[in-house]
Amino acid sequence: MKRAVAMIAAFAAVALMTVAAQAAGKGEQIFKEKCTMCHVVKGQGGKIGPDLTRIAAKLKDKDIRAKLDNPKKANPASAMPSFKTLPKADMDALVGYLKTLK
Ligand code: HEC
Repeated sequence: MKRAVAMIAAFAAVALMTVAAQAAGKGEQIFKEKCTMCHVVKGQGGKIGPDLTRIAAKLKDKDIRAKLDNPKKANPASAMPSFKTLPKADMDALVGYLKTLK
C-alpha cells in the first residue's frame, strides 16, 4: 500500500514537472515569435532593444508586465510595441519564461 502511494506521488510529481516545462517552453516560443527580432537573449537576437539575458535580475514580474502592457509609460520615446492584446495565458507563459532569465 505504501508503495502504491509512493508510486502515485512520483507520477504526480513527473506530471507537474512536465506541465511546468511545457509552460516555460511555450513562453520561450512566444518570445522567439514576438521579441527576438529586437532583443538578444543568450547571444541570439536583434539589437534594436536591450539584451534581456538577465532581465529578471533587473525587473520584477510586475515591472515586466507593465513594460509589456505599455512600453511608452516608462520611456515615451520607446520603439517597443505594446503587447497588451496578448491573450492572458500567453502573457503568463511569456512572463514565466522571462522570470527564468537572471
Ligand atoms: C520593435 C522592437 C521591439 C520588440 C518587437 C520588442 N521590444 Fe522590448 N524593447 C525595445 C526597445 C527599443 C527597448 C528599449 C527602450 C525602452 O525601454 O522602451 C525595449 C525594452 C524592453 C524591456 C525593458 C528592458 C530594460 O532593461 O529595462 C523589456 C523587459 C522588453 N523590452 C521586453 C520585450 C518583450 C518580452 C518583447 C516581446 C513580447 C519585446 N520586448 C518586444 C524594442 C522592442
